[in-house]
Amino acid sequence: MLEEIKKTLNEFNAEIKKVNSSAELENVRIKYLGRRGVLSQLFDDFKKITSNDKPIIGKTLNQAKIEITGKFNQLQEMILSNSNSTDSYIDLSLPGRKSFVGSKHIITQTLDEVRAIFKGLGFSIYEGPELESDYNNFGALNFPDDHPARDMQDTFFVSEKFLLRTHTSPVQIRVMQEKKPPLRAIMPGKVYRNESLSAKSYCLFHQVEGLLVDTDVTFAELKGTLVSFAQQLYGKDVKYRFRASFFPFTEPSAEVDIWWQQQGKEGRWLEILGCGMVDPNVLMNVGIDPEKYVGYAFGMGVERMALLKYGIDDIRLLFDNDLRFLKQFISV
Ligand code: DAH
Repeated sequence: MLEEIKKTLNEFNAEIKKVNSSAELENVRIKYLGRRGVLSQLFDDFKKITSNDKPIIGKTLNQAKIEITGKFNQLQEMILSNSNSTDSYIDLSLPGRKSFVGSKHIITQTLDEVRAIFKGLGFSIYEGPELESDYNNFGALNFPDDHPARDMQDTFFVSEKFLLRTHTSPVQIRVMQEKKPPLRAIMPGKVYRNESLSAKSYCLFHQVEGLLVDTDVTFAELKGTLVSFAQQLYGKDVKYRFRASFFPFTEPSAEVDIWWQQQGKEGRWLEILGCGMVDPNVLMNVGIDPEKYVGYAFGMGVERMALLKYGIDDIRLLFDNDLRFLKQFISV
């Protein structure tokens, strides 16, 4: 039996030299220290011994067990702490990683609301490109060749005939060229103007264009639609006014102002949109018979509407992307 114990020890020592993963270590544990392992077998055999050698055999067997367990534990610790080990090892005691949830910017929140309100009023949604032709942006919309808006001061020209659209009105042209009346659509998107930056204007902003073309449309319907819209966005008590105005592509034309009352400050009117009855020249430019069809249109400034809704007084805050500012308007 003493021989056997010695042999087991030698084998064990040879085997642990070859171990370099925790899977191999586990095999060694099962073989030597497991419930049916070599050591447990030796202890079973030991119980059956009746000779005088029993004490010395017992002592040797205990020493062998201590040696094997000790070496095993040592090796286990080494493998677990070895970062070069190819085994994947998950440390369950590490604190979890915090994940940050984003939120919609208030321009997007406002745009979402505008879209939802007009969807409720039966309007569909179209989008057009930000890079437009001079013709769609100005010519087709009845701007005379010498109109000041074409001036290099206002427009970012890309080439002689192409530009970054200065408003979303050219999408009206695209919709009317592609679809036959009756039409009822809104067209949200980005627009660009070469203006000096201030609290009220920025070189890039968002507009939502609206267009309705049918056989029997009146200015009263345009008013009704816009008042319903303002009341849904700002509440039933919103204070508004329609002011006569001029646009080359509408006749008659108006602008809508909303009363802006900031706490502790003097209130004032803030213009949020232009509107009017589509000029017969525009209908003719897209091949719609102005004798048969009438249309109304409007174009609203999304940043202006957001300023009013959230009580902000500088448009530049919407583009600075300062998290301290944005975090005040987190929506889930
Ligand atoms: N495009 C005009 C602007 O950017 C706004 C506008 C006014 C759009 C009247 C319209 C409209 O559709 O009918 O200032």
